[in-house]
Amino acid sequence: MTTTNTNANSIREAADYIRSKTDIVPEIGLILGSGLGILANLIEDAVSIPYEDIPHFPVSTVEGHEGELLLGTIQGRPVVMMKGRFHMYEGYGPEVTAFPVRVMKNLGVSGLLVTNAAGGVNTSFKPGDLMLLTDHLNLTGKSPLIGPNDASLGVRFPDMSEAYSRRLRAAASEAASEHDFTFREGVYAGLLGPSYETPAEIRMLRALGADAVGMSTVSETIVARHAGIEVLGISCITNMAAGILDQPLSHEEVMETAEMVKEKFLSLVLSIIPKM
Ligand code: HPA
Repeated sequence: MTTTNTNANSIREAADYIRSKTDIVPEIGLILGSGLGILANLIEDAVSIPYEDIPHFPVSTVEGHEGELLLGTIQGRPVVMMKGRFHMYEGYGPEVTAFPVRVMKNLGVSGLLVTNAAGGVNTSFKPGDLMLLTDHLNLTGKSPLIGPNDASLGVRFPDMSEAYSRRLRAAASEAASEHDFTFREGVYAGLLGPSYETPAEIRMLRALGADAVGMSTVSETIVARHAGIEVLGISCITNMAAGILDQPLSHEEVMETAEMVKEKFLSLVLSIIPKM
């Protein structure tokens, strides 16, 4: 387990370090899921800061994830991008996985785009589909907000009735229509992992109203909402969830599908950012 400190002082120290490296004051935060780090290529005049250089930042351990923070502009909008994110299955507490979101808030971010790779639970989905998150099920059994509440970071009992911003979803749909593309929409179930689910668990998730399943995003979204940040969530359906097809799941399949859709994803994000 990490000893990373997530209090207001740590947040300020991390943000102060980042401010010492760039004049960019980001309005939009981007957190990229497995295989989607290609979005980093969109940033103009990017300043790259390795996670290991940032005070109190955890360091990513999983294959296929990188560890750097990028600041620059996309379509003229100042952004901060996490290339590589932190997962609870790496042994981090939920407040650690979401620490960078608090740092983003301190830097000036008011809108967050979170992307992830996810298994399709809704049987009408296909690998390669992109799903706007309308809501989530936090099935990690944990919250990043456990412990004393620092009122300077947000309220004790934050509202989650619009975890994923209706306004940003409408903006994303409008951007997609300019590309003759239609997003799927649905509920993301966030689990701990790292094993993929059993077929029985997938049947359970479907009964609970999940359309997609993954191992990230929920703690970051909870902290973003606590901080008053608007969230747009997009899942790349990289595979059908366990038991739907008569074949085992693998990280390779997840990475291959993410690779296949990355160009589409890239062009969509380019159109979405100016509308955020
Ligand atoms: N389950 C959980 N997480 C995932 C999956 C899945 O099927 N695919 C990509 N991430």
